[in-house]
Amino acid sequence: MFITPEELYKKRRQFLKLGVGAMLSSSLINSKLLALEFSSDKNPQKLTLTDEELATNYVNFYEFSTNKKKAVEYAKNFDVKNWEISLSGELEKPIKLTMEDILKFPLEERIYRFRCVETWSMVVPWIGFELRHLIEKAKPTSKAKYVKFTTLFDKEKFPDQNALFPTIKYPYTEALRMDEAMHPLTILAVGMYKKPLLGQNGAPLRLVVPWKYGFKSIKSIVKIEFVENEPKTTWQEYAPNEYGFYANVNPNVSHPRWSQANERALGEFFTKPTLMFNGYEKEVASLYANMDLKKNF
Ligand code: MTE
Repeated sequence: MFITPEELYKKRRQFLKLGVGAMLSSSLINSKLLALEFSSDKNPQKLTLTDEELATNYVNFYEFSTNKKKAVEYAKNFDVKNWEISLSGELEKPIKLTMEDILKFPLEERIYRFRCVETWSMVVPWIGFELRHLIEKAKPTSKAKYVKFTTLFDKEKFPDQNALFPTIKYPYTEALRMDEAMHPLTILAVGMYKKPLLGQNGAPLRLVVPWKYGFKSIKSIVKIEFVENEPKTTWQEYAPNEYGFYANVNPNVSHPRWSQANERALGEFFTKPTLMFNGYEKEVASLYANMDLKKNF
């Protein structure tokens, strides 16, 4: 990729804007992104990117707060130093990875539509790598049928985990069927808008599954387990009639309390129709060929 000195200068300016705290905590990720060691997405579908301010301020991260403003405020000094991700379960042998190890995977920019179950949507230029590369490295056994993800549990870092009555049961967990996890659209993201992820967006490492509702895209991952049976996930346990295991974006299956037919893109006034599998039908419909999508919602 050809980089002009001006582009490089602009990147440095962006880097400086991140502030000292963020610089220290994610200097490693910064240096990799700063060096532009990721391939850019040519955006063939010409998706209009959501304004960066909106995508980094209108967030859902219950561990900090259910209030979107407060979540951003509390996430400001989120410290990701010495972050480790453990891989265990049905594997040849358990593995521990540092962010340094993680950043050795080939990083790419991926411009994806993102649809929250709450009916807002956005288009984000993520930076990450295909989860399948990590799975291949981990060498799961033939018994591994599902991949389960867990967010950090740390009452000092996450105010809602420390509350007398936490909003949901922590740690937050999510899971994918192995073929979903191996799908080339499924990525682990370390950045967005050409910069490292901010605390509120799931630093230092989060999942992004663009054809599923946003709650599947679990943030600040510390544990990845390979398991034989379908795991119960946080939202499924919270309200099984409202949040299914699959959570595929589907305009024809309503949430029990609201329709999923339309969505409002952040920054836009009018709503627009929601697309089947969030616009990734061609790529992923075959994964669910023989399934009743109303039952397996
Ligand atoms: N991961 C954790 N650990 N905790 C959360 O509260 N919220 C989910 C998902 N991942 C959540 C999470 C929901 S409901 C959505 S819509 C997306 O994160 C929002 O991602 P964003 O805030 O980066 O837009």
